Amino acid sequence: MADSPLNIPPEKIPQHVAIIMDGNGRWALSRGLPRVAGHKAGTENLRRVIRATVEFGIKYLTIYAFSTENWGRPAEEVQGLMGILQDVIDRELNELHQEGVQLRHIGRLDRLGPKIKAKVLKAIELTKNNDRLILNVAWNYGGRDEIVYAIERIIKDGIPAEEVTDQLVSKYLFTAGVPDPDLVIRTSGELRVSNFLIWQAAYSEWYVTPTYWPDFDKDEYRRALETYAGRERRYGKVSSEELEGSKSNA
Ligand code: FPP
Repeated sequence: MADSPLNIPPEKIPQHVAIIMDGNGRWALSRGLPRVAGHKAGTENLRRVIRATVEFGIKYLTIYAFSTENWGRPAEEVQGLMGILQDVIDRELNELHQEGVQLRHIGRLDRLGPKIKAKVLKAIELTKNNDRLILNVAWNYGGRDEIVYAIERIIKDGIPAEEVTDQLVSKYLFTAGVPDPDLVIRTSGELRVSNFLIWQAAYSEWYVTPTYWPDFDKDEYRRALETYAGRERRYGKVSSEELEGSKSNA
């Protein structure tokens, strides 16, 4: 994008960034605060990161906010997170809508209470024609669950085995129609995938930082994007330079 405040050639700006917002609990613990305080600080940071994403000219942002495994956390924390989701919709929806953000949900809505579910559906409906930024919120999301659900529906739809292709499976995922993430960012230093976009991130570049999510600021976001811009994406092939070299040697 010509007016992007990034020092990166436009073709090197990722189209889709996905983020594992990790480290809220440790951020809180290091300040002697309850874990939910960490999630609240993480939510504040999310607002800043969404704004920066729009400013950087990135088209798709996917955030991992509540996994299918997070139900196993203490009830107080689970309730705190559900409360945060409702508050965010109540307080931020209009501003996000005005900024041209389209909200989408990936995961299963069925396990959420009827009130939250209604709010999420309302937010999706209100923003469905916005196109400045597509924000996928992974809530009650798990990569394996997503693939199992896709297989179930492929079978129920009576798709013959020979028609099951890479592209067809992608169409049955929650992210249907969304390009695969170019870059996955994980905060707080853990080196694992944690069941996040396991199909879609097959060839994504990763950026892992020790910074806890509430402290992941715009400068560090910019560094992540610059690091990404310096990578050569090979998709399992050889580098273009190597290929050129082997041609001239032939
Ligand atoms: C991981 O940190 C973070 C989460 C499980 C929750 C992330 C959720 C938010 C930032 C809430 C806002 C999102 C929306 C869309 C309303 P952790 O608790 O695993 O941290 P730890 O590894 O240090 O314990």
